[in-house]
Amino acid sequence: MAARFEDHGQLQLLERDETEEEEDCFEAIDKLISLGINAGDIKKLQDAGIYTCNGLMMHTKKNLTGIKGLSEAKVDKICEAAEKVVNTGYMTGSDLMLRRKAVIRITTGSQALDELLGGGIETLAITEAFGEFRSGKTQLAHTLCVSTQLPINLHGGNGKVAYIDTEGTFRPDRIVPIAERFGMDPSAVLDNIIYARAYTYEHQYNLLLGLAAKMSEEPFRLLIVDSVIALFRVDFSGRGELAERQQKLAQMLSRLTKIAEEFNVAVYMTNQVIADPGGGVFISDPKKPAGGHVLAHAATIRLMLRKGKGEQRVCKIFDAPNLPEAEAVFQITPGGIADAKD
Ligand code: GTP
Ligand code: MG
Repeated sequence: MAARFEDHGQLQLLERDETEEEEDCFEAIDKLISLGINAGDIKKLQDAGIYTCNGLMMHTKKNLTGIKGLSEAKVDKICEAAEKVVNTGYMTGSDLMLRRKAVIRITTGSQALDELLGGGIETLAITEAFGEFRSGKTQLAHTLCVSTQLPINLHGGNGKVAYIDTEGTFRPDRIVPIAERFGMDPSAVLDNIIYARAYTYEHQYNLLLGLAAKMSEEPFRLLIVDSVIALFRVDFSGRGELAERQQKLAQMLSRLTKIAEEFNVAVYMTNQVIADPGGGVFISDPKKPAGGHVLAHAATIRLMLRKGKGEQRVCKIFDAPNLPEAEAVFQITPGGIADAKD
């Protein structure tokens, strides 16, 4: 595995490799000016967190007329213009195949794990990792923060990273040895990570809304939410609050899906496990992922992590549309996630 990353010297991250620059996968909202929408209305959309035509089409008319200063007539005119720019109707299977070609797979740092995932963590999708404490969910997040910045030909995403931390466990000093392992300049790598600590579920949601502005300006390839559910479990811990919690959680997960599709970003979210009384009498300590059906439906790929011997960890595909139910063993090292040694 190491051979894949060795001998390419110090990578120049700040001067991005222009030859690798893909076309933007979205149409900026100000394109609508050329279609007769006035700049003032574009500004109102941007103030509401809508920066692309693709993003606009992900809102209901009810949402849009809720924006101050946008009448129903104006919203109709804006949507009509946007429909000229983005295809919102049917496409052929071949067109879809072409769109799927934009998918980038980002290495986890372990070849065995990459192979299990069909090449790495995918853009245009949500990957969820759940598992007991110390099973490696956050360490994988740290490794992805770095590997996403590798050039595409080294199994990276050639892009920046946004990190939303709800548990306070992101450690910039962990990034340093991981960057060094991949032959990258640690301070450049840290500069390409934007980080926010969320304290409430509302704060977490607002941070996601604020991302559209950043992602429409610079090439992001990864969004991490570690963990996606912790704040919801705290903020809705009272009796009878479960239905409301699940509704708010669904809203937030829908935002994550839209970000993945709007900006061709990989979303990596971690989840907690809860006791599973229905897990069966033959399993000594049955556990299942938190978040119920709402979370299960939102995640494209669900990974279950567990501890192995020593620093080894086991990852099992729990649910994925096109991957077999299989396992891979990897290891947590000072340089991040890597292949197990034996
Ligand atoms: P929770 O957030 O508590 O649910 O756990 P998690 O699944 O996020 O666990 P995490 O990714 O934080 O993994 C922690 C494990 O990584 C611990 O067993 C640490 O010993 C190990 N670890 C962290 N840093 C290093 C390191 O620099 N070297 C090695 N070898 N192991 C490390
Ligand atoms: Mg963690």
